[in-house]
Amino acid sequence: MWEDRFNRPDYLFGTAPAQFLTRRAEWFAPGQSVLSIAEGEGRNAVWLAQQGLDVTGVDYAPSAIAKAKALAVKAGVSPTFLQADLFDWVWPEAAFDIVLGVFIQFVGPEDRTTLFDHMKRAVRPGGLIMLHGYTPKQLDYGTGGPKAEENLYTEARLTALFEGWDIALCDAYEAELDEGEGHSGRSALLDFIARRPG
Ligand SMILES: C[S@@+](CC[C@H](N)C(=O)[O-])C[C@H]1O[C@@H](n2cnc3c(N)ncnc32)[C@H](O)[C@@H]1O
Repeated sequence: MWEDRFNRPDYLFGTAPAQFLTRRAEWFAPGQSVLSIAEGEGRNAVWLAQQGLDVTGVDYAPSAIAKAKALAVKAGVSPTFLQADLFDWVWPEAAFDIVLGVFIQFVGPEDRTTLFDHMKRAVRPGGLIMLHGYTPKQLDYGTGGPKAEENLYTEARLTALFEGWDIALCDAYEAELDEGEGHSGRSALLDFIARRPG
């Protein structure tokens, strides 16, 4: 499905970063290593590389990876892009300062737990998991995201999955998104940042 959605000349989610990254820019610093999972067409990886971070982006759609590489060349930065299914990939352990998931709500509760467990192990002790996605209120707006309510984020769902972690930010809010055809219009969003203990 994703391969078909990305098989178009323009960028489905635009070429500018998700507003989450610029809204939360104080959490990023040059030299940090960041793993951006389900990176898509490269907009977030490219922006983070432009800020001086050492970026690895993973996605399973070949057309997305090709567009991400083209975007990076155009921007004059060199993130690493890997094509892999996150459920088959051999994840690096305790390797990244930040593991980032922007609009990764293609998973329901069971796979979400599996995916978050991979993400948690990939962050170094003291490092961050950063998530950005839609809340159930988004179903009223229909301006992007999955239709399955159980895939969406609530404070209760996320905090329950990060027991023992320091929840640094859990902020549900509404905003007008202008992020390509894929995410456009009034949106109900949730930003979440948790720090790995140790
Ligand atoms: C809503 S898009 C978000 C893309 C990107 N994070 C962004 O904000 O522009 C979801 C992405 O998840 C990727 N994806 C879905 N399932 C995946 C899997 N099992 N392994 C790797 N990537 C996957 C899709 O190819 C797609 O690029």
